[in-house]
Amino acid sequence: MPQTLSVIKAGIGGWVGHTAMHPEILAHAREAVARGVAQGLLIDAQAHACGDDVFLLLSHAHGTDNEVVHRFAWDTFVAGAEIARGLGLYGAGQDLIADAFPGNVRGTGLGCAELTLEERQSEPVVVFMADKTATGAFNLPLFQAFADPFNTSGLVLSEALHQGFAFEVHDVREQRRIMLTTPEEAYDLLALIGAPGRYAVRAVVSRATGEVAAVASTDRLSRLAGRYVGNDDPTAIVRCQGNFPSVGEVLEPFATARIVAGSMRGSHAAPWMPVSAAQATASRFDGPPRVVALGFQLHEGRLGVARDLFDDPAFDAARAEANRIADYLHRHGPFEPHRLPLDDMEFTTMPGAALKTASRWIDL
Ligand code: F6R
Ligand code: MG
Repeated sequence: MPQTLSVIKAGIGGWVGHTAMHPEILAHAREAVARGVAQGLLIDAQAHACGDDVFLLLSHAHGTDNEVVHRFAWDTFVAGAEIARGLGLYGAGQDLIADAFPGNVRGTGLGCAELTLEERQSEPVVVFMADKTATGAFNLPLFQAFADPFNTSGLVLSEALHQGFAFEVHDVREQRRIMLTTPEEAYDLLALIGAPGRYAVRAVVSRATGEVAAVASTDRLSRLAGRYVGNDDPTAIVRCQGNFPSVGEVLEPFATARIVAGSMRGSHAAPWMPVSAAQATASRFDGPPRVVALGFQLHEGRLGVARDLFDDPAFDAARAEANRIADYLHRHGPFEPHRLPLDDMEFTTMPGAALKTASRWIDL
């Protein structure tokens, strides 16, 4: 029976400031998903935190874009925001930009990635959760895992991987999508996804089997709201092993701290630090942006115990590198390239700042 794994996430209140998740909010989310399982809506579910965001991991048999599953997530976040208000948490209800549930979480401010699969005899899956960064951050790691033989030796050595993958890319500005196949169209793909502020990888599909191998959230909070609300803090689900890259090949891109957009006021270039769930608490300059990787061995739709995959000294060097890069970039203060390029600032706090002097310009 096909099974769907939905990861639906939101920032509904930070403790303290935007640094972390209050234990009562996480407890509320965990109770809610346990109820969803007890009521038979979900096969299994877990709630996790990355920074100030709650990620609901929902395993069910209702397919993608299911109204009941999405409403369940929406209601859970709305109730969580109420608790956040009661606790006086910062930015309570921040990401809930829709007034009411419109039938699907798309456009509501929640981030969502969903993947339907026929469970293999053994089904290793990695769920990535990010904080203080934007949609498109997963472009580089997904490209490397699925299309770069210097990262993924399986592309050279494994028959199934050798046939390549198809990438679904979304243009987050024009709201359109395109499919590009690798290895043939790798350069065309890079021409687009090398600009993650505009183009975001939504899904990766195996050309050998037609199975969806990975999905990422592409919801752009600021574009939905028409103003700066907060960082998108995207999520991604990646199937591993066999016809897909191995767990180690999927994690390898994070052994280098990449520069992503996000951090303070969603307006800066900053190193993306792979961390354990316990270290996903961005307290320095609202950064460095974090990424947590939870590993699951799906079995009969059940998630089982999560493995905290970046809780590994093999990623210590990437963490140290991220701290060095953060030191260096931060010395540039409000100058580019520490501050994002002007075009990318359109939906940040910049337009308000520019308005103040707008009337004093004199034509040359
Ligand atoms: C992260 C985020 C923060 C805030 C920053 C300023 O999602 O939203 O970086 O932008 O802490 O917040 P305010 O303006 O609310 O004080
Ligand atoms: Mg966040």
